[in-house]
Amino acid sequence: MDERFSGKVAIVTGAAGGIGAAIADRLAREGATVVIADLDPAAADAKAKAIGAAHGRPAIGLACDVGDEGQVEACVETILTKFSRLDIIVNNAGLMTFKPLSEWVSEDWYKVLRVDLLGAAFFTKQAFLHMAASGGAIVNIASVHALETSANAAPYSAAKAALLSLTRTTSIEGRARNIRANAVLPGAIDTPMLWDNPNLKSGAETIDKADVGTPEDIAAAVAFLASDDAKFITGTTLAVDGGRLAKL
Ligand SMILES: NC(=O)c1ccc[n+]([C@@H]2O[C@H](COP(=O)([O-])OP(=O)(O)OC[C@H]3O[C@@H](n4cnc5c(N)ncnc54)[C@H](O)[C@@H]3O)[C@@H](O)[C@H]2O)c1
Repeated sequence: MDERFSGKVAIVTGAAGGIGAAIADRLAREGATVVIADLDPAAADAKAKAIGAAHGRPAIGLACDVGDEGQVEACVETILTKFSRLDIIVNNAGLMTFKPLSEWVSEDWYKVLRVDLLGAAFFTKQAFLHMAASGGAIVNIASVHALETSANAAPYSAAKAALLSLTRTTSIEGRARNIRANAVLPGAIDTPMLWDNPNLKSGAETIDKADVGTPEDIAAAVAFLASDDAKFITGTTLAVDGGRLAKL
């Protein structure tokens, strides 16, 4: 496999498991030094050790709540101290909660928005402050819910739709700094987040097994958008959903 990320340093948030872990593994396999920033420091450390050992590269895990701007700043400071550069940010950390609109209280909204939207905004600010003049790439992991959604997931869908808007703004302001920003819209992907969905558990929503992709499917798309193969692509969204969004 080509090493598209040799000499580059990439941070992947929420990468202790699920889609983020597959993204971190893919970037390391293609040459990146990978930083896993996750709420769960033990799991982040274990995943980083496994990835480092598998690919013979430095990989570290850092404790970071992406919804806390101070922790995001500290995380980037640690990366710059250790590796002296930051080239790729994958804003993957996310959570989804379920309630009918009439039952949501403000804390519920903040809980989702601070991770799924503000986490990406805080890391984007750090990119503009600390990426080298040669630039870098940001990939935001949104969701098909940014475009089409289902009942009981209003804050998640709203946060993911706003993340597409943030991606566009980043691409506009990023041109002068050589920073590209794109978003990936995963469809149904085989991770705990998918199968914990109460709409699926209750049968309110069903999903055909043929419509379920793998974390590696998302990782391949992220690696493309983060690489120089996508050097003329910025401000766009790429659905990776096996064609579900295209159906009537
Ligand atoms: N699985 C799917 O079907 C699917 C579909 C569309 C979009 N997505 C998106 O893909 C991304 C990854 O989803 P996943 O299925 O791998 O989820 P997951 O629940 O398996 O993993 C999420 C990871 O994020 C971490 N995390 C949660 N809150 C955090 C915080 N405040 N700071 C740092 N880390 C935090 C968790 O510890 C966990 O390691 C999310 O943004 C999700 O919205 C997933």
